[in-house]
Formats: sequence, structure tokens, C-alpha cells
Amino acid sequence: MANLKVTILHDVWEEGPPEPEPEPVKAPRGKTGKRRKKKKDPLHDREEIFEALTKLGHEPSYHVLDGKNQSLFALAKCGADLVFNLTESYAGHDTMDMNIAAYLELLQVPYTGGGPQALYLAQDKSIAKKIFDFHKIKTPDFATSYKGRTEHSHDIEFPLIVKPVSEDGSVGIDTGSVVDSVKELMERIHYIHEEFDSPALIEEYIEGREIYAAILGNDNAEVLPLIELDLSKLPKGTPRIAGQDVKFDHETEGYKVTKSAPVEDLDEETTRKLQDTALAAYRALKLRDYGRIDMRLNKKGVVYVIEANPNPWLASTAEMAMAARKAGYSYTDMIEKIVELARARSM
Ligand SMILES: Nc1ncnc2c1ncn2[C@@H]1O[C@H](COP(=O)(O)OP(=O)(O)OP(=O)(O)O)[C@@H](O)[C@H]1O
Ligand SMILES: [Mg+2]
Repeated sequence: MANLKVTILHDVWEEGPPEPEPEPVKAPRGKTGKRRKKKKDPLHDREEIFEALTKLGHEPSYHVLDGKNQSLFALAKCGADLVFNLTESYAGHDTMDMNIAAYLELLQVPYTGGGPQALYLAQDKSIAKKIFDFHKIKTPDFATSYKGRTEHSHDIEFPLIVKPVSEDGSVGIDTGSVVDSVKELMERIHYIHEEFDSPALIEEYIEGREIYAAILGNDNAEVLPLIELDLSKLPKGTPRIAGQDVKFDHETEGYKVTKSAPVEDLDEETTRKLQDTALAAYRALKLRDYGRIDMRLNKKGVVYVIEANPNPWLASTAEMAMAARKAGYSYTDMIEKIVELARARSM
């Protein structure tokens, strides 16, 4: 492949003490994403990607969108052959990643991963679930509620899990998320409204194994070997869910006793069912290049899609790279493949 100028585009979501507020940017109308610190270590994957691109003979550089117009103007002039898009937010608003993809479309610069359509469809889990339903992809029955208004409701039954409708990284998901009574449900809905200024997604809780399918590709998309996050060792009495502690808080018991690994013990039929379901979800939400579908497999072998993640975390320790490795791709191969897929769109 030709030597390319690749701009690794990222946002500002550093951990640690609050930074000075960037120039105020209003959330887009109808969006409720709040400024918030998150979660994973974004430095980690961008540096690994930089290194992989260098190995591949490309010329990588970083560009940060810091929420100021100047960084947008500079991006327009950066002269990249390709943008490796790692952004998840703009000016602290994590509903605005779709706007960045839309801006890249306007600039006519090829970029990796989901377009604005996929980022929008996957971000609002209630919309995603309605689309899954249309395609007969099983997803837990649900209701959405925002400050007393019910937008939709199945006739759902306890136990339920209550989450913000448009978050990722398990923001707003902890041991209190799974509720067994109307009182707990009401309190949790209130918490989601107060804390996140977000509609609450109230879903039937699916007891079962937590399986992730990483997918690489477009027309001939490949479902990589399945990964399981083993939640069975979580402390007794706490729900078996991947809350924020389990995913990111290295100091917690939840983080220490859980681990992701390729699944080895599933029969062929179940594996096929999980893979087909994941691919259907990937296509239904128009994910591109790479993605991760989160699923639950219950005791009876029923597969539920919990959510779809366009542009999932690409750190070498994360599930996407773990699955690629199991399929025989080195980390550099995986990055090369993503670059090729994105490039092919503009040729
Ligand atoms: N309906 C459900 N039944 C059982 N467990 C659930 C359900 N919904 C969510 N969970 C648990 O909560 C976790 C986080 O949920 P979800 O994937 O919707 O959040 P997220 O913030 O989008 O996560 P991320 O973007 O990091 O994947 C899931 O991985 C799963 O463990
Ligand atoms: Mg998830």
C-alpha cells in the first residue's frame, strides 16, 4: 500500500483533575449529552496505532479536536490522505461524535470507521433496538422514560436494568442498575435523569453469559472469534454486569475478578448463532470497517443483542484486538486492514 499521511484524530477526555473548561459549545438541539470525564485510557490506543502505522510505512501524526473552532479549521487544512478517527466526543459532549464524522464527510477526507449514520443509530440505544426489532434480531424488551414521559413501553417484567439511553463505556451502570421492585426502578430512573440529564432505558435484565463479537470488514465482513467477559466471579449478591468498575477501575474488586478471553467451550451451532446475530446487528446499524457487538447468551441458548459499538476501543488489550489476534491478525495487521477498508471507500 502507498505511503499515506495518516492523521490520528482524537478528542480530549483526559482522566484526572478537571481541566479548564473549553470555550462553551452548546449541545446540539434535542441532545442531552452532559460534559463528563470518562473511563478508558485513550492515550494507550492512539500511541499503539501510531506505532503500527509507522511500521506499515505510513506517516502518522496526531490531531486533537479540543472543542475550539481553531482545531476544526486546522483539521480542514491538515492535508491528510486518511483520518484515523478515534474521536468519541466534541467539547466534552459525547453525543457529538457523529458531527465530527459528518464534518469529515464535508471535507471529503477518507476516514476510518462508522459514518454519521452508524454513530447516530448506535448511540441512541432505543432507536438501535427498534431497528433490531424490524430485522428480527432479538434484543431485550424495553421502555424509555424521560421526566414522566414514556416514549415506548413493552409489557416488561422484573428484573430490569436501567441505563442512560445514549452512553457508552458503562457510564451510569453500576451495581444499583439492576432493579427488582417498583421502588428501586423509580429511584433509578430519577438517578439517570438527575445525573445524566438523559432519558432512561429500562430493559429486561438477561441473566446469562456476556459475549462480544468483533467484526472486521464491510461487504465481506468477517466475524472474529468470540470473546467472553467472565463475570461469574463477581462478589455474591452483586449483579453479573459489566459496570464502570468492572471495565475501568483497576483498583476495584469487580475489575480484578473479571476477565475477557476467547470463548472455547461453545458448540458450533451456538457459535454460529452468535456470529450471525452479531453480523445482522452490524449491518442493520450500518457499522463500517470495524465494530463490536455486545450480546448475552442465556441458559436456553437464546442470543440477545445488548448493543452495537461502532469504532470500539482499539487498544491491544481490548476485545477487538484480542479477537483479531485469535483470528491470526497481529495488531499491525488489524490496523492495516482498517486503513485499507477506509481507503477503499474513496477509490
Ligand atoms: N439487558 C441487559 N441484561 C443483562 N445485562 C445487561 C443488559 N444491559 C446491559 N447489561 C450489562 O451492562 C453492561 C453495559 O451495558 P451497555 O453495553 O448497554 O453499556 P455501554 O455503556 O454502552 O457499554 P460499552 O459502550 O462500554 O460497551 C453490559 O456489558 C452488560 O454486562
Ligand atoms: Mg456495551
